[in-house]
Amino acid sequence: MQKKGVILSGMRPTGRLQLGNLLGALDNWVKLQEEYQCYFSVVDWHALTTDYEDPKRIRSNVQEMVVDWLSAGLDPEKCIIFKQSEVKEHAELHLLLSMLTPLSWLERCPTYKDQLIQLKEKNIATYGFLGYPLLQAADILIYKANAVPVGEDQAPHIELTREIARRFNHLYQEVFPEPKTLLNVVKLLPGIDGRKMSKSYGNTIHMSASPEEIKNKVKLMVTDPQRIRKDDPGDPEVCTVYAFHKIFNLEEIEDIGEVCRKGAIGCVQCKKMLAEKKAEQLLPIYEKRQELLKKPEYIQEILDQGRVKAGQKAKETMQEVREAMML
Ligand code: TRP
Ligand code: SF4
Repeated sequence: MQKKGVILSGMRPTGRLQLGNLLGALDNWVKLQEEYQCYFSVVDWHALTTDYEDPKRIRSNVQEMVVDWLSAGLDPEKCIIFKQSEVKEHAELHLLLSMLTPLSWLERCPTYKDQLIQLKEKNIATYGFLGYPLLQAADILIYKANAVPVGEDQAPHIELTREIARRFNHLYQEVFPEPKTLLNVVKLLPGIDGRKMSKSYGNTIHMSASPEEIKNKVKLMVTDPQRIRKDDPGDPEVCTVYAFHKIFNLEEIEDIGEVCRKGAIGCVQCKKMLAEKKAEQLLPIYEKRQELLKKPEYIQEILDQGRVKAGQKAKETMQEVREAMML
């Protein structure tokens, strides 16, 4: 099939993925692999920019992440899945691009300033961390990607990538297309305590949770705090359980809202319904994961294949880049 263009995206290997990663990014990737030539990279060098003092989990997190990607439906027959540090050309392009990147472009990057403040406990006043977005630009440009699906927080990095591409093309020759930002559609998903879903609050749910884990997490979800007895009228719009019904049980959403407002359903019952729907929909992911965990050599095979395929394209681009820069 003729593909519509090239897409690249990446994730830092941070451990098991959460439901938010599935709904916010992976579901989207799974669709994109049908129509575009997609490259999906586990960016372990990027992980090292913040975790260089304690890198011991990075390697196992890479395996873990590939397992989650495949469980969510990425298909190595349709897309290229690879580990960033295994395609060394990214490092060469990063170096060459660093020659033409004004320091101020990196220093003024909002994510840079932000992280310096937020990650106070880590010493990231390093050369590597300042270059984080440039390494990302190299990831993207080396495949001549036309579009990059990311969350809103990453938009400044894609903007920087376009600026770098423009500068390179202007200084030497037209080598790089300017990649578009494909913003992920965010479905609002609160944490189980009703706050923003975040690992640091410990209120998340793994996307590959077992039916048992799902049931337990749903039990812990906060509901309408004004509702004390089960026939008190409730307000579903302030309820975390209801927010999840909107995603996993859309066909019953109106009925549930109505019986909740009338006080005609108890929260225990309502949670039970949610847990069932959710477990049912996430079961294929859970099962796929269990199956993949038994075959670490298969994961390795996929990464080997990815390294070769991505490497091919990266090598081609680097030839052009070296030529353009008269090396
Ligand atoms: N910086 C991205 C993030 O934290 C990860 C990333 C690295 C990336 N290289 C990329 C995303 C290239 C898209 C394209 O989410
Ligand atoms: Fe939330 Fe359902 Fe209880 Fe209403 S009945 S408050 S929607 S859990």
